[in-house]
Amino acid sequence: MKNVSGRFVVLPVFVAVMIMLTLFVSSANADPKKNYARSCAKCHGLDGRPTKRGKGLSAQNFKNIDWQKSITDEEMFKSITNGKNKMPSWGKTYNSEEIKALVHYVRVLLPSGQRKKMPKAIQKLHY
Ligand code: HEC
Repeated sequence: MKNVSGRFVVLPVFVAVMIMLTLFVSSANADPKKNYARSCAKCHGLDGRPTKRGKGLSAQNFKNIDWQKSITDEEMFKSITNGKNKMPSWGKTYNSEEIKALVHYVRVLLPSGQRKKMPKAIQKLHY
């Protein structure tokens, strides 16, 4: 009897550890700061202001609140996944969790002093 109940304990603990490991690994991959620096900063600038190259391609300024207000998370998600005009697509490089994290990262590039002027729904999701 002792062995049987032992097995009932070991399996759930093993499953729980595997779930925690999976969560840890996937959150590490979704680290938007690293992904942004690696893939986006060359056009959009590390701080969200377009670089020379980005300006030449007409990349927006992510620090601009009027631009931030003009776009939904869904539109950003779509443009990052599929590309838009001279913006390359990233749907093959990043999975949807990673792209969601990048959308959040772009939102957070708005200076903290301006965030309370954003629509309530966006504030709730990101700030
Ligand atoms: C080769 C330069 C380049 C790189 C690299 C790049 N972008 Fe862009 N991005 C652009 C340009 C140009 C636009 C403007 C597209 C337009 O509206 O015509 C843009 C637009 C955007 C927009 C606004 C989309 C919209 O619907 O208006 C977001 C959000 C964005 N980029 C995020 C990212 C993220 C996140 C990455 C990295 C994974 C990235 N970009 C990498 C050039 C780039």
